[in-house]
Amino acid sequence: MERRRLGKTDLQVSPVALGCWPMAGMTSLGVNDTDSLATLAACLDAGINFLDTAYNYGPHGESERLIARALGSKRDQFVIATKGGLHWGPQGERLHDASPRALRRECDESLQRLGTDYIDLLYLHAPDPAVPLGESAGAMAELLATGKVRAVGASNVSLAQLIEFAAACPVSACQPKYNMLQREIEADIVPWCIQHQVSLVVYWPLMKGLLAGKLARDHVFDAADGRAKYPMFQGTEWQKNQDLVDALRSIASAAKRTVAQVVINWTIHRPGITAALCGAKRPDQLRENAGALDWRLTEQQLAEIDQALAARGQAVSRNAV
Ligand SMILES: NC(=O)c1ccc[n+]([C@@H]2O[C@H](COP(=O)([O-])OP(=O)(O)OC[C@H]3O[C@@H](n4cnc5c(N)ncnc54)[C@H](OP(=O)(O)O)[C@@H]3O)[C@@H](O)[C@H]2O)c1
Repeated sequence: MERRRLGKTDLQVSPVALGCWPMAGMTSLGVNDTDSLATLAACLDAGINFLDTAYNYGPHGESERLIARALGSKRDQFVIATKGGLHWGPQGERLHDASPRALRRECDESLQRLGTDYIDLLYLHAPDPAVPLGESAGAMAELLATGKVRAVGASNVSLAQLIEFAAACPVSACQPKYNMLQREIEADIVPWCIQHQVSLVVYWPLMKGLLAGKLARDHVFDAADGRAKYPMFQGTEWQKNQDLVDALRSIASAAKRTVAQVVINWTIHRPGITAALCGAKRPDQLRENAGALDWRLTEQQLAEIDQALAARGQAVSRNAV
C-alpha cells in the first residue's frame, strides 16, 4: 500500500486519510457509535493508516474518544492527527482560544481522550484573532520539544500566516480546503509548501459528499443537514455542480471506478498534495474512498476531467505548479 512522507518527518501516511468529523455526529445525519467504530476498524485492511480529528470534533471530544476505543493496541500502526485552538461555547457556538495556555491544556486533554502518550501531528485548527500567531506557534513548538507531539501543522491559514507560523515553529503539514471546485490554494500555498517540503493534507475533497456523485439532482436536504447552508448546495450553483457530476459519472463509468474514487484519485495526484481527508461514517464509504488508492487516472481521463471543469468554469491549471 502506498505511503507518503509527512513533511520532513519520518511519519509515513496513506494518501487517503479518514476524516473523523462526521462521526462526531454534529452535522452529519444518521451517525451511530457502532458504524463509527466499524469504520475505524476497517481502516488498516482498506490501506488507510492516517486519521484526522480535532479537540472540538464533538461537544465532548466524541471523535477522539471513538478513535481510542477502536484502535486499542493497534494505536502504533496509525498516524493520528488532531487539532487545538477551537472549542464549543455554552450555546454551541464555535469559539477560538489559541493562547499558549489553552493549546497546552487541550493537547493534554486530547492525549487523555485518545488514550495515548503522543500525538503524531498536532495542528493549530485556525488562527485566533485575539492571539498573536507567533505566540500560538511558539506554544506548539514547546509541545514538539516535550515529545507529546511528533509533528506540527497549521490549518485554515493564508500564505502570509503560514510563513509567520513557520518562523516560530517547524511546520510539517498545512491543512486547507481543496477540491475540484475550490482550488484557490494552487496560486500561492501549494507552490510555497512544495518549495519548503510542507505536506498539504486537504479537507473537503468530496465537498461534503457533493462530489461523491450519490446525491440526486432533485435531492431535498433535511433541515438538520448541515450542508444545506452552503451556496454550492443551493439553486443555480447546485444545478451547475450536478452538470459537472454528470460528466464525472461518464468518466468514472468508462474507468470502471466510482465518481468518489475518480475525484479522490485526481485530488491525491495534484502537485504538492500528500493526502486527502475523506470523511466517512460507515465502512462502505471508507472502503469506497480507499478504492482511490494504488492506481492512476490516465492522461486521457485527466484531459476529460479538465474539459468538464472548464465547462463548469474552473480554470484548468494541471501544470501550474
Ligand atoms: N481543518 C478544518 O477546519 C476542517 C474543516 C472541515 C473538514 N476537516 C477534515 O476533513 C475531513 C473531511 O471533511 P468532511 O468530512 O466534512 O467532508 P467530506 O470528506 O468532503 O465529505 C464527507 C461526507 O461525504 C459523504 N461521503 C463520504 N464518502 C462517501 C462516499 N464514498 N459515497 C457517498 N458519500 C460519501 C458522507 O456524507 P453522507 O453519508 O452524510 O452523505 C460524508 O459524511 C473531516 O472529516 C475533517 O477530518 C477539517
